[in-house]
Amino acid sequence: MRSKNIAKTVLTLVSVGVGLTFLTQSSNNQMISAKSSGADIYQQHCATCHGADGKANTARGKRKGATDLTKSNISTAQGIRIITNGRELMPGFKDTLSDTGIKDVMNFIRGFRSN
Ligand code: HEC
Repeated sequence: MRSKNIAKTVLTLVSVGVGLTFLTQSSNNQMISAKSSGADIYQQHCATCHGADGKANTARGKRKGATDLTKSNISTAQGIRIITNGRELMPGFKDTLSDTGIKDVMNFIRGFRSN
């Protein structure tokens, strides 16, 4: 009787463990894909002006006067507004990207900053 209870307890602990491992793994995967989608969006929609390295050292970037994102120090909220609505010669992306896509690409370009 007693050993049956112990077996039950062990079984419960093991299944909780398996469940937790599964949960942590799937949330890690989500973080990885959010990161790579920000990078993908950047390559696809931003790099022609801002450059693969963020320094806006491209023909199109120079023509438009694109900002060097490694020197940018705007807040996340301001960045999201600019990416959404555009500013001066930068087009807005509200019709091209989802809210999540805009946040992802904003998080990605924060990585260009040296500060
Ligand atoms: C057609 C060229 C072009 C494209 C494409 C473009 N930008 Fe820009 N971006 C600009 C220009 C020009 C400015 C400067 C706007 C100004 O003078 O206020 C700018 C400014 C910014 C700023 C403000 C930086 C600061 O410190 O003021 C951010 C953030 C930014 N761009 C992010 C992006 C992201 C993210 C994408 C892609 C989703 C993107 N840009 C695509 C041309 C572009």
